[in-house]
Amino acid sequence: MAMIAKQCPDIPVTVVDLNQSRIDQWNSDVLPVYEPGLKEIVEEARGRNLTFSTDVDEAIRGSNMIFISVNTPTKTHGMGAGRAANLEFVEKCARRIAECSQGHKIVVEKSTLPVRTAEAVKRILKSSSSGATFDVLSNPEFLAEGTAVSDLLAPDRVLIGGESSEAIEQLAKVYERWIPRQKILTTNLWSSELSKLTANAFLAQRVSSINSISALCEVTGADVDEVARAIGTDSRIGPKFLKASVGFGGSCFQKDILNLVYLCEHFGLDDVARYWEQVVLMNDYQKKRFSIRIVRTMFHTVSDKQIAIWGFAFKKDTNDTRESASIYVCRDLLEEGARLVIYDPRVSEKQIRADLLHVFKDNSLEVSARHRRLIENNITVASDAYQAAHNAHAIAVMTEWEEFKQIDMKRVHLNMHRPAFLFDGRNILDANALAQIGFEVHGIGRSSKAPM
Ligand code: UDX
Repeated sequence: MAMIAKQCPDIPVTVVDLNQSRIDQWNSDVLPVYEPGLKEIVEEARGRNLTFSTDVDEAIRGSNMIFISVNTPTKTHGMGAGRAANLEFVEKCARRIAECSQGHKIVVEKSTLPVRTAEAVKRILKSSSSGATFDVLSNPEFLAEGTAVSDLLAPDRVLIGGESSEAIEQLAKVYERWIPRQKILTTNLWSSELSKLTANAFLAQRVSSINSISALCEVTGADVDEVARAIGTDSRIGPKFLKASVGFGGSCFQKDILNLVYLCEHFGLDDVARYWEQVVLMNDYQKKRFSIRIVRTMFHTVSDKQIAIWGFAFKKDTNDTRESASIYVCRDLLEEGARLVIYDPRVSEKQIRADLLHVFKDNSLEVSARHRRLIENNITVASDAYQAAHNAHAIAVMTEWEEFKQIDMKRVHLNMHRPAFLFDGRNILDANALAQIGFEVHGIGRSSKAPM
């Protein structure tokens, strides 16, 4: 919404949320999310044509076009728990819009939704007693975190699905202010809704595919980055999204695939469901494999050993930790009795502790006293990477932050126990150079390197 406000200074944009403290943050100098370039955009448009407010009803009344951009998390209980999307917030938005609207409104689904959600939204809107009329459009968002601003400025495409060509045209005109017309694709509602889930499923599938090959590389002596380069030069395959890693994270991939799996099951397409489910299972396997490798390599025990965790965000240039591989690897290492010293340039100590507490919740959402003690006693959060590695037996690189590439590894090595193990979950450090310094290096999808 901030990008629309920036690119269209004559269009008033109001962002509303029921959560007062969140809106206060959007109105302050410290925005609730870190995203390179976002602060500048918000500061330019805020107070001109961009307003943040909690007055939801007033904003609905005053707008011609309303974007529903609420969270659609995976359901944690009830039917489809663990897979289906929780549409409670979308439905609540639709009901509120139905109640407050007058005249004609265009309602745009921006949240990622299961196919045919627009049907439900339309029915709720139709029940409006005020006599208001509505067009419903689907306009999924394809931006990636960390590069959101550049993705929004120059997207590969903008997708608008809908039934009314007039409504589609009105939304297309907004985007046309900065995006070439040929990049604005229009489809029917259902194709648009399904395209978003499919795009994420395909992207995640590529990561799981290369990660599955990384396991094979480790036992055969092949190097996964070399394999990725070799296959990526085939123009039919292409080079992007072939970086083997400790596993994909983020708020979208797992959630959207599980949602796709649920949809397939709902329509009786069990074979299709099992096919896509495997992408998530392969990702779980990759995270687990990394933890097991650490424990096995360190003489089958990490109990009372200090391990530096470099990176907690699910990827670089974001403070988002949702589904981050780091959470799961930390959980496994804590279970094994390791002492973890965690450092991430953007993630707060509060967030790290909250995520680890959350990952230990059992089925009744309780955290055992033992797990609470582990989080209290075996976790330290460091203020830089050197501090995290001081006195450590091993380092695990979990996020590909640029600053980890600039670290004086000789200095780090001096202050570590011997053998000094380094597990590079992102293959960002130069294994040969590290081995020269004296590290024993274990990357993803490549042979380990003994100290030289
Ligand atoms: C993703 C989609 O890219 C975006 O289009 C959609 O709108 C939202 O979901 P995002 O989750 O922000 O975006 O990040 P992305 O860059 O796709 O990375 C997702 C995860 O995959 C990260 O954990 C990343 O480290 C991992 N990844 C990505 C790899 O491990 N290897 C790769 O080659 C690419």
